[in-house]
Amino acid sequence: MKVFLLFGLVALALAEVTRFAGEKVLRLKPVMDEHVVLIRELAASIEVDFWSPDSAEMVTIDIDVDIHVPAAYLDLVSTMLQQSDMETEVLIEDLQVSIDAQTGPTPRTHSYTNYNSWDKVQSWIAAISTSNSALISKQSIGSTYEGRPMTLLKLGKKSSVTKPAIFMDCGIHAREWISPAFCQWFVKEALSTYGSDSQMTSLLDQMDVYVLPVFNIDGYDYTHKSNRMWRKTRSRTSGTSCLGTDPNRNWNAGWCSKSEPCSETFCGSKVESEVEVRNVADFLRRNKADIKAYLTIHSYSQLVLFPYSYTYDLAADHSELLKVAEGASSALRGLYGTRYTSGPGAATIYPAAGGSDDYAYDIGVKYSFTFELRDTGRYGFLLPASQIKPTCMETMLAIKYIAAHVQENL
Ligand code: ARG
Ligand code: ZN
Repeated sequence: MKVFLLFGLVALALAEVTRFAGEKVLRLKPVMDEHVVLIRELAASIEVDFWSPDSAEMVTIDIDVDIHVPAAYLDLVSTMLQQSDMETEVLIEDLQVSIDAQTGPTPRTHSYTNYNSWDKVQSWIAAISTSNSALISKQSIGSTYEGRPMTLLKLGKKSSVTKPAIFMDCGIHAREWISPAFCQWFVKEALSTYGSDSQMTSLLDQMDVYVLPVFNIDGYDYTHKSNRMWRKTRSRTSGTSCLGTDPNRNWNAGWCSKSEPCSETFCGSKVESEVEVRNVADFLRRNKADIKAYLTIHSYSQLVLFPYSYTYDLAADHSELLKVAEGASSALRGLYGTRYTSGPGAATIYPAAGGSDDYAYDIGVKYSFTFELRDTGRYGFLLPASQIKPTCMETMLAIKYIAAHVQENL
């Protein structure tokens, strides 16, 4: 026993954990071209971690720009900002304090109202998929770069014929912890309300819902163990020491927009270079005849987005998608008044190629939506665990609204 304890302590001491003591998240409010230029210069000269939008190129006049500034650059950045007349605001005073506050003491077991580590999610997947074999089953769609199993849950009443389906994934981006929390919540809700909630019952009778609880498992695990702010996958690219590709820029949709491997939005060495993307894309291709909707859950900003993001051109189904997105947003708002904005990705936030929503749409999955869950920046990626339940409850209403529309149009 003692030997193991000692071993554990040594391993803990050796594992490098990035700390963020004293680092801040600032909100910049550019209102003139000079401000935009300044932000771009800042990004070019020092390491700023863009929270929203997700890279310097996407900065424009009249949007809020949330950046995480490493401690070493704080003085420099404040001097530069003071010299300009741009309005700024401190969103997070001390990132490490907010990180520690997000979860509080780590519970020993899986919990729907806490952020679960991958180990806990993995055992939850195993347990829940055998808990109710009439309604849920699991299948492997491959492994991640570091060899973790990608297990897809299938919810729906068993049927001898193939049913039309909805596909939903969570956790494409590692640090967006509320997203996997939502997928887990959805599965629980679906199983526990089948038979009592008429809409859920009809949905699971008529359709199957595939849920991938964590898409970017390697990255998610890394955010729990080493660097809370990690976004990308953990794969190596030859010719660089920078790790990771943005798994929402790596799909065969539009062109590759960011080819610097050290960037947080690196699109990869080639389309589907990321095995996680390939695994999911393969599944979608194999089942595209049955998949009627593709839902992908991100955070933060409170948005319901739909194609396109790789072009400003309107999707062929634009007006229907807009109507559904707006209906979903208002269903969500009905619970606690949380306001969501809806629209096509490129025009609503920023143009970005290689996203999963555009890919799904272009292979024929008409109802393709990206959700950006709570909040609008007060906590950003560090949304406190106390908000998991209300966030999930309101989001359920939006997802169910979309599902009902899909069902009506089968
Ligand atoms: N914040 C998400 C991202 O940048 C939004 C995705 C919208 N869709 C897209 N294809 N870019 O990945
Ligand atoms: Zn994301």
